Amino acid sequence: MSESVDPSSKSIESGLQESRLFEPASASSLGMDHWHISSIEQYRELHERSIQDPAGFWGEVASNMHWFEPWTSVLEWTPPDARWFVGGKTNVCDNCVDRQVRDGHGDRVALIWEAEPVDKAGNVEIRKLTYLQLQEQTARFASVLRSLGVTRGDVVTIYMGMVPELAIAMLACARIGAPHSIIFGGFSSQAITDRVQDAKSKVIVTCDGAWRRGKIVPLKDNVDAACEKLATAGDAVEHVVVFKRCENDISWNQSIDRDWATLMAEASDDCPCEAMDSEDMLFLLYTSGSTGKPKGIVHTTGGYMVYTAYTSGLSFNLISDSDQVFWCTADIGWITGHSYIIYGILPLRVPTLMYEGAPNFPEADRFWDIVQRHRVTQFYTAPTAIRAFMKWGSEHPEKHDLSSLKVLGTVGEPINPEAWMWYHRVIGKERCPIVDTWWQTETGGHMITPLPGATPTTPGSCALPMIGIDAAVLDENGNELGANQGGLLAIRKPWPAMLRGIHGDRERFIDTYWSAFGAEDSSVSPFYLAGDSARRDDNGYFWIMGRIDDVINVSGHRLGTMEVESALVSHQAVVEAAVVGMPHEIKGTGIAAFVTLAPASTPSDPSALEELKVSLSSHVANEIGAIAKPDQIRFTDALPKTRSGKIMRRLLRAIASGEGQSNQDTTTLEDFSVLAKLQDDSE
Ligand code: WT7
Repeated sequence: MSESVDPSSKSIESGLQESRLFEPASASSLGMDHWHISSIEQYRELHERSIQDPAGFWGEVASNMHWFEPWTSVLEWTPPDARWFVGGKTNVCDNCVDRQVRDGHGDRVALIWEAEPVDKAGNVEIRKLTYLQLQEQTARFASVLRSLGVTRGDVVTIYMGMVPELAIAMLACARIGAPHSIIFGGFSSQAITDRVQDAKSKVIVTCDGAWRRGKIVPLKDNVDAACEKLATAGDAVEHVVVFKRCENDISWNQSIDRDWATLMAEASDDCPCEAMDSEDMLFLLYTSGSTGKPKGIVHTTGGYMVYTAYTSGLSFNLISDSDQVFWCTADIGWITGHSYIIYGILPLRVPTLMYEGAPNFPEADRFWDIVQRHRVTQFYTAPTAIRAFMKWGSEHPEKHDLSSLKVLGTVGEPINPEAWMWYHRVIGKERCPIVDTWWQTETGGHMITPLPGATPTTPGSCALPMIGIDAAVLDENGNELGANQGGLLAIRKPWPAMLRGIHGDRERFIDTYWSAFGAEDSSVSPFYLAGDSARRDDNGYFWIMGRIDDVINVSGHRLGTMEVESALVSHQAVVEAAVVGMPHEIKGTGIAAFVTLAPASTPSDPSALEELKVSLSSHVANEIGAIAKPDQIRFTDALPKTRSGKIMRRLLRAIASGEGQSNQDTTTLEDFSVLAKLQDDSE
């Protein structure tokens, strides 16, 4: 645990004293037929029931999905292992796609895609796929995967831009029971190498390139570099399927590269959904933790499917076959995209919108242009984006008709009340409820969130637990804390979409999530530790305070400080590095790196030092991805350490945020001169 938050300290009382409360609007005032949950009393009643009788409650919810064979028991729970809908057989792709066609909805639009490029006349490419078309494409690509030798249980790596083929590829995997491991297109070739190796994946699906702010991201080049490293390591990839999106120049390796279009043209569209066991793996998704090595979070079939569809419906008030259009602006490479662009939304028959590119291309009003063009009704984005919109100016949204909007969502990090209020006024025109959804890659779906027709909202608070979720703020012994006491955010009961493990690392799974509140006779705690600190206010509303581990949240994306440190240290000029978070206007948290150079590699003149900073930055981008680039690099002769050799991050954080050391306890500091030097340099 890092020193940033001491949960036992009584002194952690809120600095924020936000008390504005916004009552939910009536459904009719937003042109909606109804709210699924329309009062706080109804929420409380349902929540109470779901906690008292989880089996009865989740059994009912799950029967809305299609099962090839019913489950024999709803839940088997031996901490930390949960099995949901035990013995049930289903298929997630079937519920997202085929089932809709069977039920007569084949002609309804399932997916709306908008490309990034805009031509001189202002035209953009838009593709709409009906459920029938999605079924046909998905089945075809499933046949392609089969023809490449992929069978149930084989992990398929997907590294693509935001194109419909990405959705098709993931659904095709689900169709044949091959877990996918999707890697965000912003990650580097090294990140691909590590993940492919960890997952023992033999097939990669990629694109030649991806459009981003008018430029092409060379995805295939990155895959090529990864494949080379993998081959050298004896973990050669067998097939790389390339969807040509940008027609950029790529090299072609006859022995492993396969062309998407050619394969699809030859493939059969007759490839039925496999009946998967409820607990079969649906996907792996890598996320950062407090060590240098990302962890492959394991999600399984039945519980994840049930929970994402249920929470999609409730949090956003999605109504099937109505005039709604749902838009989540995340990339599918993150859990938000998995759960709330694809898996949770498609079963509900509300068209899900996928946008290919950047929010400010060609102009800063692109998102609002899209909202207007497609009459988006539910809009889900991140605080970092909202802060960028604020900075770009209200004139951009004000140019567009946003009257179609009904519910606004936010996710990824705590939203500052100023950004919340801007979202409320400028985008929601004070009509639309805002749902601030707290959850994680590990939780699979929303855990703490207002429900738009039921929960009064307070800017900055994610309000109350989702139905079925027993969230609490605990001390380190697992005792619940009182109002306004900061502590550990924990989930005390299993839920259907919870992670089932870390791929290949049982010990890390238990250590990270299930060891904080160990019962006396065992080291496994019955409660899930989220890794966040939080408090509840006098209304019982949750306020997320920050991470308790060495993880920072940059623009709503998790990064391990150790990961960035390892990347820096792998540069030949660096002997030691310490990375901490620092406040950042747009990103929420930025990255500050304190770096000790090898004497022989220490340039003497200032311009060479500046150049070295640039080269360290691009080195980190190469090792991890551009999101991990430090916002600030400081060179130092040594790092401040405790007597036991632990880097004093608390001090570095204070320096990086410009707070200075005056109010920091330095009694365990090894070398005061080091601190004095760092301070001098920062002035
Ligand atoms: C961490 C999870 C879940 C999708 C995006 C991030 C932070 C997430 C909120 C929120 C305050 C939030 C937490 C959490 N976080 N949503 N609404 N309010 N903090 O997924 O990369 O798994 O990160 O993001 O710190 O632990 P992730």
